[in-house]
Amino acid sequence: MKLFLVGCVFIAYFVHVLVANQKGCSFSVHGQSEKNSPILLQNDTTLIVPNNGKVSLKRRDTVTLLCPDSKNYLVGTQSNITQAQCVQGGILRVANQDLTFRDLQCKKIIRGTVAKTTKKCGENKGRIYKIGYQISSRNFLTLIEVCYDPNSGTTLYTEHALHGQDIKYASKSNYRPAFSPEASAVAASVAYKQTFQKSTFNKLMKSALKAQEYINENSFLSRGHLSPDADFLYAATQYTSYYYINAAPQWQTINAGNWKKIELLVRKLADNLQETLTVITGTYGVLTLPDVNDNEVDVYLVSGSKLPVPKFFWKIIYAKHSRQAVVLVSLNNPFVKEIGKGDFLCSNVCSKVGWGSGSWSNYERGFVYCCDYKQFVDKVETAPKLSVVGVLQGPK
Ligand SMILES: *[C@@H]1O[C@H](CO)[C@@H](O)[C@H](O)[C@H]1NC(C)=O
Ligand SMILES: *[C@@H]1O[C@H](CO)[C@@H](O)[C@H](O)[C@H]1NC(C)=O
Repeated sequence: MKLFLVGCVFIAYFVHVLVANQKGCSFSVHGQSEKNSPILLQNDTTLIVPNNGKVSLKRRDTVTLLCPDSKNYLVGTQSNITQAQCVQGGILRVANQDLTFRDLQCKKIIRGTVAKTTKKCGENKGRIYKIGYQISSRNFLTLIEVCYDPNSGTTLYTEHALHGQDIKYASKSNYRPAFSPEASAVAASVAYKQTFQKSTFNKLMKSALKAQEYINENSFLSRGHLSPDADFLYAATQYTSYYYINAAPQWQTINAGNWKKIELLVRKLADNLQETLTVITGTYGVLTLPDVNDNEVDVYLVSGSKLPVPKFFWKIIYAKHSRQAVVLVSLNNPFVKEIGKGDFLCSNVCSKVGWGSGSWSNYERGFVYCCDYKQFVDKVETAPKLSVVGVLQGPK
């Protein structure tokens, strides 16, 4: 009997050790203190996508902590690229110290960088620029791919991944970095200033009084994000959206109106589906507005022919696995009196595909309609070609 008990205790102890050994790490990467958190990579180069707010690792798995930039480093290590090993629970071993993810802080805020490529896009009108982090001389971690036309300072479209598995838990940090002018071919930081918009419109409309109808306290052009910050998970990756090449002039009432609503619905769908969606956001055409003589004039923010105010903003939402897509289009004109044929890039299918909303017909907040991908891409030649077999229904 005694021997039996000893045996039991021994076995229980053995099982306990075995289980403890298999217990990996699980920790939250969101919440307070994340403003300066490092980026987490697996296999040295791939961004770790948390699941429901948490990163899970097997015991002894190593991950890379990245504080990119030659002037940045992980506090306590002086290194901008550091290995961490899972001990267990919330404990990681970094440079022989056992720490939690919250203890790990970069010296300063992580800003991305832009890698220009010569790869053509948008019917050869643009070149692919990548916003992300230079991990090594050979490896660039891309968060946003931008199709940019440096001749006119036009962003034709951007592409990013929206991870539905974690989007509900994504960083809520309200810190917002300044927009970076890196790789922008125009003086965007000046052009977006409201005093500058005012003088631009005075010239375009040939009348200060007429210009006042468009640019005033309640009406102006904002830096409309193409890839929105809230589609990214980490505080640091959200900051990569603050580049002028990831923005286009969008009327403020629309930016804060129906465009914002579109962005919220897309995140809701990603959360519903719990999968990674490809989101491609672009611009098309040049907005025209009537001048003092009632002649329609093309609206550019810089010297007559650069930084166009797009006539349309659009968003393709693409589910790679099912190869389903839908396109939402927003008319960037809060002054329109009635919608004409030329305002449509396709026939509107919103209500048929579950993307309807009562507010889509509010012109001041930005008139919205939905396109079948094939019809849209036939018309908008600069949009990327995708393999699409069906329509992506709206969120529940
Ligand atoms: C990355 O590492 C994980 C283990 O951490 C492994 O399972 C996976 O296959 C690796 N992926 C690639 C692309 O090397
Ligand atoms: C880390 O800093 C060095 C210079 O101190 C720099 O050459 C390297 O590119 C940096 N690495 C990363 C990932 O930013």
